[in-house]
Amino acid sequence: RPNSYRESVNKIILATQNAHKLEELRSVLPKGWEVQTAFDAGIRGELPETGSTLEENAFQKAMYLWNHCGIPSLADDSGLQVAGLSGAPGVHSAMYAGPERSDQANRSLLLANLVGAADRAATFRTVLAWATLEGIQLYEGVVHGQITHDERGEYGFGYDRIFVPNEGDGRTFAEMLPEEKVAMSHRSRAVRAWLTGLERS
Ligand code: IMP
Repeated sequence: RPNSYRESVNKIILATQNAHKLEELRSVLPKGWEVQTAFDAGIRGELPETGSTLEENAFQKAMYLWNHCGIPSLADDSGLQVAGLSGAPGVHSAMYAGPERSDQANRSLLLANLVGAADRAATFRTVLAWATLEGIQLYEGVVHGQITHDERGEYGFGYDRIFVPNEGDGRTFAEMLPEEKVAMSHRSRAVRAWLTGLERS
């Protein structure tokens, strides 16, 4: 018999289809786990995401996967909260500039809305929801930083080109190698919190 829940899990479903996020998640998961996406598991179309908080959205997606597949499911919802914009784009980060979900348009709009702003502080936050037979647990990861005046870097996705973490060396997330970003990203911090939770269960 396995010693912990973590050892007994061998197959999980991830709610995300975003290749960058999948890669970031897979790089910190325990070895030997079989990871499927919702699509791999036969789910077609968008997962429900109608909440007004990251917590609600992650919860909805994980619950939906668990109900439809009966396999432990991990859903993430992330957002960028900018102090000078009263916390926007927050839960609306993906569609900040419109339903096309264009990373480029989102970054351009954010920079335009911050022109002349004295406060450029921002926080990336990820909420993970883990759905199993035992119920749903939520985990969080955050990284604090500043929004740049211009785009810098080629790596990553989303708002990476305009976000400089406070604990870094002044580079944006998009100027860091993937493993450098993973070392301090909101997403990998949330994953570590989840893994710690699994060890305890
Ligand atoms: P989602 O709802 O978790 O897919 O993410 C919401 C929005 O935040 C999307 O526009 C992403 O591009 C952006 N986002 C989430 N995580 C990151 C990140 O690690 N770097 C840059 N942008 C991110």
